[in-house]
Amino acid sequence: MGLGADSFKKGLAKKNWLKKQMVIPTLKSTVVISDRDIQFLAPINAGGQATVFLAKIFNQTMAAIKLYRRSDDMTDCYQRELAILQGTSHRSIPKLLGSFANETHLGLVLELLKGWPLAKLIGHMRARKELISLEIIRYVAVELLSVLSYILGKNIIHQDIAPDNIVLTNDGNVYLLDFGAAIDHAQPRSRPFGKRRYLAPELLEGEPASTVSDLYSLGAVLFEAVLLRPFLGQSYRKEFGLLQQRLAQNHEDLQMVIRACLAPSPDLRPKSATRILSILRKVEITSTAKDKLAQLLTSAGPAN
Ligand SMILES: Nc1ncnc2c1ncn2[C@@H]1O[C@H](COP(=O)(O)OP(=O)(O)OP(=O)(O)O)[C@@H](O)[C@H]1O
Ligand SMILES: [Mg+2]
Repeated sequence: MGLGADSFKKGLAKKNWLKKQMVIPTLKSTVVISDRDIQFLAPINAGGQATVFLAKIFNQTMAAIKLYRRSDDMTDCYQRELAILQGTSHRSIPKLLGSFANETHLGLVLELLKGWPLAKLIGHMRARKELISLEIIRYVAVELLSVLSYILGKNIIHQDIAPDNIVLTNDGNVYLLDFGAAIDHAQPRSRPFGKRRYLAPELLEGEPASTVSDLYSLGAVLFEAVLLRPFLGQSYRKEFGLLQQRLAQNHEDLQMVIRACLAPSPDLRPKSATRILSILRKVEITSTAKDKLAQLLTSAGPAN
């Protein structure tokens, strides 16, 4: 079913608004895929904002479809995520295959990522009482910093960096998902988005999100990946002591980066992802780290 003319115009106006706000130089045109060309097979994740389905499109290609229910808030998230996916191209951002709309829902048709959300992998390793190797964590950190540095170049703040928005694929690639809460660096809103556990302290006090609040969230994600326990920020001495124990030998730089990202005051955090990348890249990121990640995921089996 097509869109009504009014809602279409409203959607277009919002999209133009988004284009003006974020520096997205070339918007790729997006194939509009109709209901008839999609077979919805099974939900992958019925999340807070949207539901992601495993689907087949044009009777041949497997895809993931992120379906937003139409409502003012959700339509806004959809438009935002669509504009960002259209305007970005990076190995760590899922490819947009098309978009879809009916009377009740709006959908992003995405390349299907086969692998593990980092949140599930952390749970899996914790249950097996096995740590994730530091070589793999360093590689994941570098990949995430590289995509953060890329999106910042387009004035985008992600705002929801958390282990369930990071997917590690079976071929050893690292993806950052879920741009539904992303905002423009130059015009941040004051309402905090994102999961409380990963939110920078200043956001809880009503400060606007910023590049460095994204870096705090990244620090919290890396802390959790290293120790398989969340960063609570209640006892810095104790929590950083645990980090020190695991990262004392040969990984002081990683330790320093995580600690710096987790500084409670935004002024004390590193100023940009690019700056941290140059610190972490002083130690060679071996190509075997990617292979080791692929092996770990293969040996863990399917994520569900
Ligand atoms: N392209 C994809 N391929 C495979 N799985 C995906 C893809 N996109 C999303 N998913 C899965 O769906 C989950 C939710 O996706 P996303 O974070 O984009 O939506 P959400 O509305 O935030 O949902 P939630 O509230 O559950 O996080 C992800 O954690 C991931 O497991
Ligand atoms: Mg999400």
